[in-house]
Amino acid sequence: MSKKTKNKSVNVNNLDKNEKSKTTKDSSKFKIVFGVFAKIISYLFVIKALFTIYCIYLVYVSLTNVPDLPKVDVNVRWGVDNNTHDTRIRPYRVIFSDAMESEIRALFEDYRLMERKIKSFKNTAWTYGVHSDAFAQFFSHWIFKYKFRERVKFLNKYDHFLTNIQGLDIHFVRVKPKADKNVKVVPLLLLHGWPGSVREFYEAIPLLTTPRPDYDFVFEVIAPSLPGFVFSEAPTRPGLDTYEMAIIMRNLMRRLGYTQYYIQGGDFGHMIGSHIATIFPSEVLGFHTNFPVNTSKLSLLTWLLGGLLWPSYFGNGIEDRMYPLKDKMEFYLEETGYSHLQSTKPDTIGIVLTDSPVALGSYILDRFMIFTNHTNKFEDEGGIDKYYDFDKLLDNIMLYWVSGSITTSLRIYKETFAGSRLNNLAQVPTSVPTWALRLKYELFQHPDYMLRWKYTNLLGSTNLDYGGHFAAFERPKDFSDDVFKAVKAFRNFK
Ligand SMILES: *[C@@H]1O[C@H](CO)[C@@H](O)[C@H](O)[C@H]1NC(C)=O
Ligand SMILES: *[C@@H]1O[C@H](CO)[C@@H](O)[C@H](O)[C@H]1NC(C)=O
Ligand SMILES: *[C@@H]1O[C@H](CO)[C@@H](O)[C@H](O)[C@H]1NC(C)=O
Repeated sequence: MSKKTKNKSVNVNNLDKNEKSKTTKDSSKFKIVFGVFAKIISYLFVIKALFTIYCIYLVYVSLTNVPDLPKVDVNVRWGVDNNTHDTRIRPYRVIFSDAMESEIRALFEDYRLMERKIKSFKNTAWTYGVHSDAFAQFFSHWIFKYKFRERVKFLNKYDHFLTNIQGLDIHFVRVKPKADKNVKVVPLLLLHGWPGSVREFYEAIPLLTTPRPDYDFVFEVIAPSLPGFVFSEAPTRPGLDTYEMAIIMRNLMRRLGYTQYYIQGGDFGHMIGSHIATIFPSEVLGFHTNFPVNTSKLSLLTWLLGGLLWPSYFGNGIEDRMYPLKDKMEFYLEETGYSHLQSTKPDTIGIVLTDSPVALGSYILDRFMIFTNHTNKFEDEGGIDKYYDFDKLLDNIMLYWVSGSITTSLRIYKETFAGSRLNNLAQVPTSVPTWALRLKYELFQHPDYMLRWKYTNLLGSTNLDYGGHFAAFERPKDFSDDVFKAVKAFRNFK
């Protein structure tokens, strides 16, 4: 037994010995494995560092890359018929017919029957959207005080025309100045956006076409309706984004005999004008924008990081209009729902708005309210009465209504924001002399240094402590003064 035990103990001893040598062997093995592993890790670390640097490089390249311009086909056709080439310039008149007027009145009656059901809360102003009490006032002006006959006469006070460009009948207003021989007449293309129209420029046009003592030039104004807007025909197939509109607008100017001209634009008009200046730089003598933004990725990132790091530095003089980031983000979230809807389902909301002038009126009014002064929504009347008279707002709404063009106008969002061209084009610089007018309540605005990334010859900018998105419509005098000032700078620059 004891032997057995001994044996066993020997065995155990043996076993221990074996174990020990095995452990030493193992530990050296472990060292080797560990060494290799550590090497791998250190390699990995280097690889990771390299990878990070590479990623940063990629981001940098993607942010600063200047892509090629998309191919330009200046003869693309957008109409039903690709074969007629009608180059006539035909006179046109706005018509408010009796039938139209009685139809509107009948639809108003329907609205009055349901007025009780859409009554807004007391003391919520326009924070739930258009307030029903304020709308009732606007609406009763439309029924009882808006003089259809007089207004249509007013709308026809300038000469209207149609001409066919790339298969689409394009509508425009053209006003020539009365000027002495020593005053040079220069062409100015005025581009509106959504939900505006040529009506936005009616007060500014006489100011632009009347010679001024300090200037040796005066403007001939060409104000077109964008394709699908008001009396300009809409395309029959998808794809007519702001890039394609730029080509149409440029071809319109050629049709009128202008190979070189100045451009003024706001909202989508800014984008289109900016595209013309980018695609046809030698044809644009100067670009004045009242929507001074940079839509590129780098600008967006600069804005975001700038807001987190050092707003006053990155805001560069207009920080109060770009920051605080949190307030701005909240504002954009609350106020850009319309744009999201129009960029995705324009036809759905289009059907609603085409069905009733009341629907159309309230939808458009809401935009004029918020775009003019961002705190208007806390005012009982939505503030609109402070900035515009009702006739003026109704003229614009009537143009959309009588032409039944709201759906086709909304599609500009879908065509433009669904494509990738917007970003591409924003990253191609242009040397066309440029001037930025910033009104206080413009939705997005960027400081001069960011604008210079795109407009290398930004000759100047003007900041106003008042006014909103519809510069020409709301502040015709400031607007035209600034256009004169800018064009003088453009002319001296040459
Ligand atoms: C007209 O031309 C465009 C290209 O310019 C083309 O996409 C379209 O299909 C043509 N339409 C017809 C009816 O041939
Ligand atoms: C915006 O900035 C980018 C640089 O990321 C520049 O290439 C582009 O041209 C600018 N666009 C505008 C509209 O200023
Ligand atoms: C914007 O609206 C608010 C509230 O109605 C008003 O107090 C403010 O003065 C307005 N701002 C400008 C610049 O008109």
